[in-house]
Amino acid sequence: SNFLLPSYMDFHVVSCRMIHALHIKDGKATYVSRYVTTSRFKQEEYFGGAKFMKVGDLKGLFGLFMVLTQELRKKLQVLDATYGTGPANTAFIYHHGKLMALSESDKPYVVRILEDGDLQTLGLLEYDQRLKHPFTAHPKVDPFTDEMFTFGYSHEPPYCTYRVITKDGIMLDPVPITIPESVMMHDFAITANYSIFMDLPMLFRPKEMVKNDEFIYKFDPAKKARFGILQRYEKDEKNIKWFELPNCFIFHNANAWEEGSEVILITCRHNNVDLDQVNGNQSDKLEDHGNELYEMRFNMKTGAASQKQLSVSAIDFPRINESYTGRYLYWRKQRYIYCMILESTVKVNGILKMTGIIKFDLHAKPERSKEHLEVGGNVTGIYDLSPGMFCSEAVFVPKEPGVSGEEDDGYLIFFVHDENTGYSFHFLHH
Ligand SMILES: [Fe+2]
Repeated sequence: SNFLLPSYMDFHVVSCRMIHALHIKDGKATYVSRYVTTSRFKQEEYFGGAKFMKVGDLKGLFGLFMVLTQELRKKLQVLDATYGTGPANTAFIYHHGKLMALSESDKPYVVRILEDGDLQTLGLLEYDQRLKHPFTAHPKVDPFTDEMFTFGYSHEPPYCTYRVITKDGIMLDPVPITIPESVMMHDFAITANYSIFMDLPMLFRPKEMVKNDEFIYKFDPAKKARFGILQRYEKDEKNIKWFELPNCFIFHNANAWEEGSEVILITCRHNNVDLDQVNGNQSDKLEDHGNELYEMRFNMKTGAASQKQLSVSAIDFPRINESYTGRYLYWRKQRYIYCMILESTVKVNGILKMTGIIKFDLHAKPERSKEHLEVGGNVTGIYDLSPGMFCSEAVFVPKEPGVSGEEDDGYLIFFVHDENTGYSFHFLHH
């Protein structure tokens, strides 16, 4: 079987288009890392340098310079933006027999795994020219129906567009989701019947970026968090229900399901997110960023919304047994969530790092007295790396696909980098 892992860190990767494959067969492991040959990569090679923006570039006057020069180059057709401008390095998904490398600023790139474990970029996937907008790095495949649900966000209206892709790989018509202004929308969620969109106050503010030397997205701590819930197969948004919760930002959801008329979302909630910090642009500053596991409940009948804290800080990059997604959760509840532990006191080379993995049991009650992440209550296990060792986001590989086996019977696979020796290696953790 083939296991594919995202490169070093999910959202934080700004360095390259590199993907890594770990191929385990007959007791032997082979490792390959390759550049996704995106259009951006090919064009940068041709022009001999990095000409497209990276997320970390979008700051201050330099950021505006990058936006303007990119726009200018597009206008002058020096760079061909119709063939994608993204780094294709955030995440992967399999759907309709294709493995896609994804970045939320671009369309998917199809990657092929060769017999010997090597990787080959086949090209941009545009669904017969039906895909005209960016495509999230975190689409959801319902393993029961084999459909894929996805969205894209952009800087011009509609700021968010919802798409369903059938099990036969046909992309259905766009469903514009109306939100007041352009925001960063990194993830969403599905249940058996609904899709959940997050309108969170990470606002696209290119003018403030120049005036105050800030990141191109500005978090507004005064605005409410809004969650829009729409039936999965709606052709338009007229029946969408919007819910409000206290201010927050969310990069990643763990999962969602329904209980009666309530929709439950398990998510990694950031209290006061600082994107400069996430991107490592402010090396002298490190505040408590308050990333905790939360349960959010939305009542489709009454319109009520509530939330409950399930952990202390700091966790993110939640993973699950992905067989437990969508329709399968019509009959059962999600139980286990695996999150990366974020280093909260030390920041080396300006980047927040991950120091281990924590396993949550949602059927157990959180212990309210806890001040640190430790075993007990709803925490059934912690895998802590030694000092100086940091890891990538994990993937969960079930021993058997589907929901016939135990939900947590499988492997967590992740890369580890040892800063003491400079060696990188991987762990298999049963
Ligand atoms: Fe992500």
